[in-house]
Amino acid sequence: MEVLLYPDPRLRRPNAPVERFDAALAALARDMLEVMYRTKGVGLSAPQVGVNLRLLVLNRSGDPAQPDGERIFCNPRVLWRSREKEWGEEGCLSFPGIYARVERPVAVRAAVVDLRGEPQTVELRNWEARIFQHELDHLEGVLLADRLTPSDRVRLKAQLEELEGSRARTGA
Ligand code: CO
Repeated sequence: MEVLLYPDPRLRRPNAPVERFDAALAALARDMLEVMYRTKGVGLSAPQVGVNLRLLVLNRSGDPAQPDGERIFCNPRVLWRSREKEWGEEGCLSFPGIYARVERPVAVRAAVVDLRGEPQTVELRNWEARIFQHELDHLEGVLLADRLTPSDRVRLKAQLEELEGSRARTGA
């Protein structure tokens, strides 16, 4: 399993709701967590590994030795966003080497479904809420490149063009 890099078109495809809560789904989520840890990430969405499903995983510690931070959410739907927002720096495993400041609500409440198909309501704050909202963007086909401020768009132009160009050259 590998992480797809921008501008792979699979990152923009519609993502279908998870409907089968079976062993294959649990294995996919586990594989995604392993890839996330291996690549030093704190969150990963299914479309980033070429699976166009509404599934995301995160661990705010990014540390496999702290599995209590692991969250696996299917079919997430935001119910409430805090009015308070905060700027914070984000990276993305699909944009290696690129970091940008993004403004997001500080807290969110969401309806999610767990691996057994059980609906849950979760409330996330701060860093965990930021990771969740970043991964939720992926499920909507929204990428870090779409969230750049005008000044970051200028600052990161060459790096983004290099990513776009490297794909065109290899045809990957
Ligand atoms: Co990302």
